[in-house]
Amino acid sequence: MNALKNERSSKSVTDDKTVPPASRQQQLPLQLELDICQQTVNAQNHSSDQLRRLSNYLMYVCDEERQRLANEIHDTLGQNLLALKIDVSMLHARTRKNHPRINHRAAIMMEHLDVAVANVREIINNLYPPVLKLGLLASVEWKVGEFEKRHPIACTLQVDGHDTDYAPYDGYSMPMIRILHESLKNVARHASANCVNVALSGVPRRLTMQVVDDGVGIHPDHLCKDGAYGLVWIRERIGALGGEFTIGTNARQKGTMLTVSLPGRASA
Ligand SMILES: Nc1ncnc2c1ncn2[C@@H]1O[C@H](COP(=O)(O)OP(=O)(O)OP(=O)(O)O)[C@@H](O)[C@H]1O
Ligand SMILES: [Mg+2]
Repeated sequence: MNALKNERSSKSVTDDKTVPPASRQQQLPLQLELDICQQTVNAQNHSSDQLRRLSNYLMYVCDEERQRLANEIHDTLGQNLLALKIDVSMLHARTRKNHPRINHRAAIMMEHLDVAVANVREIINNLYPPVLKLGLLASVEWKVGEFEKRHPIACTLQVDGHDTDYAPYDGYSMPMIRILHESLKNVARHASANCVNVALSGVPRRLTMQVVDDGVGIHPDHLCKDGAYGLVWIRERIGALGGEFTIGTNARQKGTMLTVSLPGRASA
């Protein structure tokens, strides 16, 4: 009896004469539908995997391109402006006694050149700040100082451990500075904060960077706003490096707390 039962259950639904023809017709499309669904899921997984890899590659290419452009601007435009400035200052010095009108024009030209040099420096700093070559800690210190200079928001830096503890993470300087840039830009634009604290910690097992402001706080609905890419970019960037990203309310007071952390040993 049991053997008969097993034999029956091993038959496919379509062979089973005990299943009414109408049910048999329903079962076949169901299996087909399941197969199609599975194939679609597989294809979607494959496609998101490919997209993630492409996005990681683009982020890497973007960094390389920023560095290349910064170097090129420094070596061509920057150097030429400097040479021009030296020539104009010589002209300015030599015309002081006998050619007051030329001397005056030279002084104006020097002022224009100073502005042009400052603009070029700013462009280079936005693309690939030269301080990145000095490592992670120096870069973060520089960024915090730059933020304070430009915004009426107090910005403090808190660093756990010793300076040398951060050396293994120097390979992360570029992504970490860009993440800090996006985070501080958000504080300046959205938080209405009086102060923001940047904290580095977790070495040597892990590198953690927290950006905590005392502003209005972030609304959960704003985490995936249409047309807003700063936070999405941070999440993708940190994910590509095998790290973690969280953003939420600052627990001690109102405000926003953004945390990124990366595993030990920099390989970026
Ligand atoms: N520190 C913060 N305090 C308050 N709100 C914030 C803070 N950071 C982000 N937000 C909110 O989260 C939203 C999404 O931020 P996100 O950086 O992704 O985009 P965005 O700054 O609007 O545009 P962009 O693409 O130029 O970065 C912001 O529009 C803002 O409403
Ligand atoms: Mg933003």
